[in-house]
Amino acid sequence: MFYQVYPRSFADSDGDGVGDLDGVAARLDYLEQLGVDAIWLNPVTVSPMADHGYDVADPRDVDPLFGGLDALDRMIAGAHQRGIKVTMDLVPNHTSSQHPWFQAGVAAGPGGQRERYIFRDGRGADGVLPPNNWVSVFGGPAWTRVIEPDGNPGQWYLHLFDAEQPDLNWDNPEVFDDLEKTLRFWMDRGVDGFRIDVAHGMAKPPGLPDMKNPNIGMLRLDDNDPRFNHEGVHDIHRAIRRVFNDYPDAVAIGEVWVFDNEQFAKYLRPDELHLGFNFRLLRAEFDAADIRDAITNSLAAAAIEGATPTWTLANHDVEREVTRYGGGEVGLARARAMALVMLALPGAVFVYNGQELGLPNVELPDGALQDPVWFRSGGRERGRDGVRVPMPWEGDEPPFGFSDTPDTWLPIPPEWAALTVERQLPEPDSTLNFWRRALQLRHERRDSTGTTLEWLDAPPDAVIFRVAGGLVCALNVGAVPIDLPDGELLLASGPVDDGTLPPGAAAWLVKRP
Ligand code: NOJ
Repeated sequence: MFYQVYPRSFADSDGDGVGDLDGVAARLDYLEQLGVDAIWLNPVTVSPMADHGYDVADPRDVDPLFGGLDALDRMIAGAHQRGIKVTMDLVPNHTSSQHPWFQAGVAAGPGGQRERYIFRDGRGADGVLPPNNWVSVFGGPAWTRVIEPDGNPGQWYLHLFDAEQPDLNWDNPEVFDDLEKTLRFWMDRGVDGFRIDVAHGMAKPPGLPDMKNPNIGMLRLDDNDPRFNHEGVHDIHRAIRRVFNDYPDAVAIGEVWVFDNEQFAKYLRPDELHLGFNFRLLRAEFDAADIRDAITNSLAAAAIEGATPTWTLANHDVEREVTRYGGGEVGLARARAMALVMLALPGAVFVYNGQELGLPNVELPDGALQDPVWFRSGGRERGRDGVRVPMPWEGDEPPFGFSDTPDTWLPIPPEWAALTVERQLPEPDSTLNFWRRALQLRHERRDSTGTTLEWLDAPPDAVIFRVAGGLVCALNVGAVPIDLPDGELLLASGPVDDGTLPPGAAAWLVKRP
């Protein structure tokens, strides 16, 4: 069970309103009690924070905002003492525009120094048009024109994300050599692996052909989208894996937004990634056919290479599931039910901080928004800040123990007083205690190996399956109660009376021999 810590929003130790690594270290007991096996830490490396750390200016140092290298060492030591592994984010597709390589490239003019990035001359008279029609995932064109050393507008550089995140040129061997240095730097320091950002990016098709469908949404991928999933990316993963092989206990987990099973499985070949993020369950509606389809295809994709399946319902880029499933009481009940579905499935699970508290999305005022998506879309897309609001720990008013200052980097809504860790711990039926119990049972039962499960007969609005070891999970997505399958009830996401499972609830059962 990987627990995703979004460091800006987890716990602030120095009172500047932004979370940091000593803050995480101080809350490790909480993670241990929750049953976390490994932390996935979003980027903490040196960054101007245009995309909150996914714009890396120095990949081998920790940003002072998060407490510097020593704070990371302290946090890792504390985690290891508790048997919790620590994985970091690795960002190989792009750097920050403040990275010394990019600064030198812009200053040097066309040629040599720019070959670590993807600079091209523009089209049209005087090169006023971008080199092709690619769009940025965050909105607007994927190209920005630079001012040359002579003061005139000149070449364009490619950025699949923000203009402050120039894409690296993976045809240049220096780029891999530097990444290898970064991997070894952190793994020699005790880091247990990496979540690899945009692991289906990096390689670009020769000639950079136009996109057929430039009106595609955020982190979406068409089968014919030339920006991502180019065949050449697999050579890069093989080279990365060769470095990992020197660290046999370390794990490489790719963020792979690819939905064709065969294409996805390629990333999981024995000489590529250990694990691939799988977003099918996260994308499924609260609908029986959709959920079954997501599970079937996720298992089928992992089985192609005998890889371990992975599951996630939430992360720092997508609407929180309480809100996604309808909001309010209904959304929370469904989120709890889906947690039981996910935690029953064989494989590795990824839980996003605050998911275990049942946090919803926050409607932030315009003035609070910081996501580049908000700025690049000209205010049409509100972006991801609403899923990144700091954790409510204790007390009756913001900042709920997150920080000493009420002036937190994103405001915490006063109504989260009812959702704090302190408030939920003594309530037996709280969402937090429900997650703790589910994770404890999952851990004890160790049913989570393999890539198979057995579908059991179910009414049209239900999903019922049995996994290795005999655990049965039943989910009711319909509007009326359904009969619970036979067996002893281990855990339910909501009230279960008279042998029936209410709408929007799930249960775990076992049959005693
Ligand atoms: C995916 C990350 O999860 C997201 O937060 C980031 O903005 C993009 N990659 C660009 O690095």
